[in-house]
Amino acid sequence: MAVLVTGGAGYIGSHACVALIQSGHNIVVLDNLSNSCRASLEQVSEITGVKFPVVIDDVNDRAALDRLFTAYQIDAVMHFAGMKAVGESCELPLTYYRNNVAGTLTLCEAMKDYGVRTLIFSSSATVYGEPLSNPITEDFPVHATNPYGQSKVMVEQVLHDLVQADALAAVPFWNIAILRYFNPVGAHASGKIGEDPLGIPNNLLPFISLVAVGKLKELSVFGGSYPTPDGTGVRDYIHVMDLAEGHVKALDKLTDEKTSSGCHTWNLGTGNGYSVLEMVSAFEAASGRPIPYKIVDCRPGDIAECWADPSKAESELGWKATRGLMEMMEDTWRWQSQNPNGFSK
Ligand code: WQD
Repeated sequence: MAVLVTGGAGYIGSHACVALIQSGHNIVVLDNLSNSCRASLEQVSEITGVKFPVVIDDVNDRAALDRLFTAYQIDAVMHFAGMKAVGESCELPLTYYRNNVAGTLTLCEAMKDYGVRTLIFSSSATVYGEPLSNPITEDFPVHATNPYGQSKVMVEQVLHDLVQADALAAVPFWNIAILRYFNPVGAHASGKIGEDPLGIPNNLLPFISLVAVGKLKELSVFGGSYPTPDGTGVRDYIHVMDLAEGHVKALDKLTDEKTSSGCHTWNLGTGNGYSVLEMVSAFEAASGRPIPYKIVDCRPGDIAECWADPSKAESELGWKATRGLMEMMEDTWRWQSQNPNGFSK
């Protein structure tokens, strides 16, 4: 099966490429390299021993998609291409809606025209906003609190409407999985690929990792008086390879002839929550490096705690996260210590 991986040079996308290849799939990568490096794909080939087509272009460019779908026999699409910084989305809403929403519309139009009916969409737990309670199940209400999260809510709605329209057709077309990621962290165990954010990281673990390797001075802990065991924010951190393997399981599910067409939603999380200070201690243990920190004011828009109920994915996909906190930390440190400047040598 040939899978088009949009955003395949990015953090989640590159790990998904490894999992797809190691599961026997052929891949074609489309990436505009706006937030990634081509070097990540060379490392994917190093890890897997497999070379694959790479198209440097934009999912928003319909002519580019026409060239790609004409050149390659695509059977399914994993759609990672998009922007994902909550804070940045509040400053640049138009850019986020253009890339994340309009880009997906262009992709779906091309898929329809070329008869490609299987789509796996990269969504996010951020669609749940401030959850009513934890753990979170897929039937919880969605209400985003920022343009990034709203863009995910909007795309999910579009995908549901595509399937709704299908219901009126004699032969349903769309076969869609919406995967809601909790907090992806870690790196492939080889240390050859990992998270390489541009500039100062917004997310916790890449920031901690740069403190450990000496590129940043100290961590600011956003809030120390949340109603959590140690007062700091609690999240469901999931190893990026567990996440990637969940995508392959979702693809298997969609392409299993027993699966009805339609739009299926699954949480991809571990079901465990860890606080910021627990993450700091775990990283110090894994790296042997001190992580100096200071507790500062809460970050606007942050929630106190959020973790998944992953039982739906477990029962319907036969998938469960297997990598624990220490493995997440050790793999992050191996990547960071072997690549202090990320992919730019
Ligand atoms: C985690 C915890 C912070 C940085 C966001 C998006 C989500 C997904 C993951 C894309 C929180 C605290 C963080 C720092 C800190 N992205 N923190 N100091 O906000 O849970 O989720 O990224 O899909 O959609 O919403 O992740 O890593 O930014 O924060 O104290 O320098 O670490 O307050 O408690 P978040 P995060």
